[in-house]
Amino acid sequence: MKDQIFIFDTTLRDGEQTPGSKLIMSEKIEIAYQLEALGVNVIEAGFPISSPGDFEAVQEIARRIKNASVCALSRSNEKDIDIAAQALKGAVSPRIHTGIGTSDFHVYSKLNMNRNSVLEQAVSAVKYAKKFVDDVEFYAEDAGRTENQYLARVIEAVIQAGATVVNIPDTTGFCLPEEYGAKIKYLTENVKGIEKAIISSHCHNDLGLATANAIAAIENGARQIECTINGIGERAGNTSLEEVVMIMNKHEDLKFSHTINSKLLYHTSQMVAELMHMPVQPNKAIVGSNAFSHSSGIHQDGFLKNRENYEIISPEEVGAADSHIILTARSGRAALNFRMKNLGYEFSREQITDIYPRFLEIADQLQEINDEELHQMARLIETISPAKKNASSLI
Ligand code: KIV
Ligand code: ZN
Repeated sequence: MKDQIFIFDTTLRDGEQTPGSKLIMSEKIEIAYQLEALGVNVIEAGFPISSPGDFEAVQEIARRIKNASVCALSRSNEKDIDIAAQALKGAVSPRIHTGIGTSDFHVYSKLNMNRNSVLEQAVSAVKYAKKFVDDVEFYAEDAGRTENQYLARVIEAVIQAGATVVNIPDTTGFCLPEEYGAKIKYLTENVKGIEKAIISSHCHNDLGLATANAIAAIENGARQIECTINGIGERAGNTSLEEVVMIMNKHEDLKFSHTINSKLLYHTSQMVAELMHMPVQPNKAIVGSNAFSHSSGIHQDGFLKNRENYEIISPEEVGAADSHIILTARSGRAALNFRMKNLGYEFSREQITDIYPRFLEIADQLQEINDEELHQMARLIETISPAKKNASSLI
């Protein structure tokens, strides 16, 4: 029996905090529909108090989305919560996400408060949000650097106040996976009433650990992952949705299920990259342009014998175009022959061997050999090495 992991997408909130990624209303709606089609459970549509534009976007998304909860962010004060609740009015399944910083950094040097007053404000905020919606998620900002005993006190108190989801953000991306996993485990073992709420992970990628930390969280009792398409977000970004989904798909041993249609991942990634002006790095896991490209001779030869020698995910699983054999000066004869065949040429092993030194000379001058150069090379093969009658084995 697999445990379901809820996917909370925050591309339109934390993701949109990425400099240069500001969206207009129609673009936010387009992305929200795509996230709904993708199968996410919660769409965090924005932070309504932050600007009139964000308020309207949350309102519009709340009215239109029917198959996912729509969530609005607030700080832990009544004004923020009032505006969030107002923006969510038309939603089929509204969620208010309210919270406050709990690490000593936040308590003392950001909020100028003390631990008790932060705890009281957290409880008041949750109670206030409950007046508007049933589904209230509480975030303990900088939980990653919050002392576990105090964090447990806060989480216990907000669950008693009615929080349905408790978010444990590693806001600064500081935690190691073992440490973050242990924090989640500590809460499952030390918070009275923890079974009444879903524990959520929200990880940032400052040390490149956002995905590893989210996986450590679900292995230790969290049942919601907050993430973004392409891992965009504040500073170095958030846990990437496509990575956690494919980890769950590929590791049956983890025994987690989810509702994401992985075949839509590539298209969703491209849409977000384009609308948010955030190109995907070529070597990005799952959706990068090199994720299904093979360029060295050893890999190409192994891949052509059996794709599973070098691919753990097939491109169709994520809706990407077929794998590519890239021809460079590191490619071998098998790859050259494969690409020639794709262009309709049938050469013998001898012909490919005869042209191969010329291929390497050209490849040494170029980054990559394209189809046009292959056609030219094919004409050359036919002159320097015409097919023999009864040509011996084709490669
Ligand atoms: O990183 C963070 O702590 C956040 C909260 C507002 C949830 O984004
Ligand atoms: Zn965040």
